[in-house]
Parts: sequence; structure tokens; C-alpha cells
Amino acid sequence: MKKNCLVIGDLNIDLIFSSLERKPVFGSEILSKEWFLDIGGSGGIFSAVLSKLGINTCIVSKIGSDYLGDFLVKKLKVLKVNTDFVIIDEKRNTGITVNLSYPKDKYQISSLDILISLREGEINIRGIDNLDHVHFSSYFMMSGLHNKYLEVISNIRSQFKSVTFSLDTNDDPNNIWDGGLIDVINSMDILFLNENEALNITGMSNTKNALEKLASYLEVVIIKLGKKGYMAKIPEGYYTEKSLDVNFRDSTGAGDNFDAGFIYGFLSGLSDEISLKIANLCGAKSVEYLGGVGNEKKFIELKESVKELLN
Ligand SMILES: Nc1ncnc2c1ncn2[C@@H]1O[C@H](COP(=O)(O)OP(=O)(O)OP(=O)(O)O)[C@@H](O)[C@H]1O
Ligand SMILES: [Mg+2]
Repeated sequence: MKKNCLVIGDLNIDLIFSSLERKPVFGSEILSKEWFLDIGGSGGIFSAVLSKLGINTCIVSKIGSDYLGDFLVKKLKVLKVNTDFVIIDEKRNTGITVNLSYPKDKYQISSLDILISLREGEINIRGIDNLDHVHFSSYFMMSGLHNKYLEVISNIRSQFKSVTFSLDTNDDPNNIWDGGLIDVINSMDILFLNENEALNITGMSNTKNALEKLASYLEVVIIKLGKKGYMAKIPEGYYTEKSLDVNFRDSTGAGDNFDAGFIYGFLSGLSDEISLKIANLCGAKSVEYLGGVGNEKKFIELKESVKELLN
């Protein structure tokens, strides 16, 4: 039977400019050879990819009653993500991030007040009968939920006894790296971070030490290292793997594709080691395409590669 995953977190528009001539300079215009409008937000991208990999996925987030909100719902529905629990805020605009994408990194400009405004009282998941897993995205961004995560987790646990939890904090736009995070991490089964996030959260100067410290809180900790791959601590030990050698186009959402790949493996009953390999594959496939979600061709190739890996 298909597994069910609930995603609670950020959902917004991503407008991506790539193949840029140079970096922005105040007072001048730069040209981009390509642009792409896609589902964005770590939660939005994660939901779309997980659903395409074959997990029943449903997302709780907040969008405006506007053209961009309609675009997100329409596109998520095409990807078979359940949007019944997405909250429509009549007073605010749908969140948007403009990405200037370069081979090594990106500039991002975001307007995401609508996501910050999401409160625990607005989360209403009545109607969900079966839930195997809950994924929280962009902990720091979703500051309206701070101090309430533990309540949300305990409410879900009381309804669905064997449910598991994962978290990807993503960046802290305020550079504070706190907000009761350690208590939340303690309630998780799986934690995804990138290198910068792991160092800032633990206060360590070395990634291996950061991994070890984080592993004292929960069983599975994965630190994504961009082009360098990942390092992870799972119950069987430490694992590290380089990234796959692919034709780079755009890094938007690579981390969320990686997370979705791992959770797909985890919910499919595969070992953590194999799930990590699927994750690495998903991250690599993501950078070959514009946008975090990308297009149908990406998913055809991705599913083919996952099939090959499992054979
Ligand atoms: N240039 C690349 N080539 C191949 N694979 C890559 C490349 N960049 C990233 N990946 C894959 O994607 C994974 C996640 O990327 P990254 O470390 O950038 O995560 P992140 O910082 O969480 O990303 P995001 O910006 O989506 O939050 C890596 O661990 C790797 O598997
Ligand atoms: Mg990330």
C-alpha cells in the first residue's frame, strides 16, 4: 500500500534567472538567457518530488488568493500533491523568491511574510485517515510556528501512533539559529541540514564534529555538502559519498530533491544506506534542470535511475 506523508512548511513561487552574464551591480541591468517559473519553497519542492516518486503527499502551507497562488495549486495538483489543507489568506500575497542562479551559488530575494504568518491554530488536518510520516521544512522561516512545534508534533502523535518525523531547517534569514530548535530536533527521526546550517546550529567549526553533536539528539542526521556530496550518521555508522558528476544548470531546490529522495527510500522500507544513494541521485538530477521541481522529462529520467539503482 502507498505510504502517506504530510508536509508542513513553506510553499511559494520561485522565479529563476540563470545563464546570467555577470553579477548584479547597483544601478545597472543584467541580462539572463533563461528564466523559469516554478513551485518553490522547500516544502513545496519536497512535496512535488516525493509525490512524483510515488508517495501520497499532502501539504499544509499558506498562499494568497491571487494568480500566483492559483498557479501553485494548479501545478501541485498536476503532480498529484493533495492541496486540500493549503490555507488561502485573503489579505496577503503569495510568497515569492527571485533567484539569480550562478554555477557556484545564487542570490535570492524573497517576500515571504505570508509564510511567517502561519500559526499553529490554522493547521487543520481533520480528514487525514492515515499518516506514516511528517516532514517539516524551513524551520527558521516559519517563525510563526516557533514554540508550537512540540504541540503540533504531540497532536499528530496522539492521532497516528507510529508516525515518524523529519526536519530540514534550511537557512536562518535572521542569522540567529535558535528558537527552541534543539527540543524540536530531539523529537525528530531524521534531520537534514547543509554544511553552513550544521555549523551555525551546533556552533562547531568542523562539519564532522557538528555531525557527531547532532547525532547525539537523534538517529539519522544528514549533512548535505552541495557539489561535494553528503555526510551522514545513521544507526549503522558514518556514511559519506561524493555527488554525482552531472551537467550543472541550476542549484535551486537540490537540497529538497535530496530530502525527498531519502524519505521516498525510508517510506519504501529501504535501508538508510540505499535511501542515501537515492537522495544523492535526486540532488544530482535536480541541478541538471531549471527550478526545484523542473519538468516531466526530469522525473522520467529520475525514476529510470532509481529503478537502475535498485536492480
Ligand atoms: N553541482 C552538483 N552536482 C551534483 N550533485 C549536486 C550538486 N549540487 C548539489 N548536489 C546534490 O544535491 C544535494 C543537496 O545540495 P545542497 O548541499 O546544495 O543542499 P541545500 O543547501 O539544502 O540546498 P537548497 O538550496 O535546496 O536548500 C547534495 O548533497 C548533492 O547530492
Ligand atoms: Mg536546504
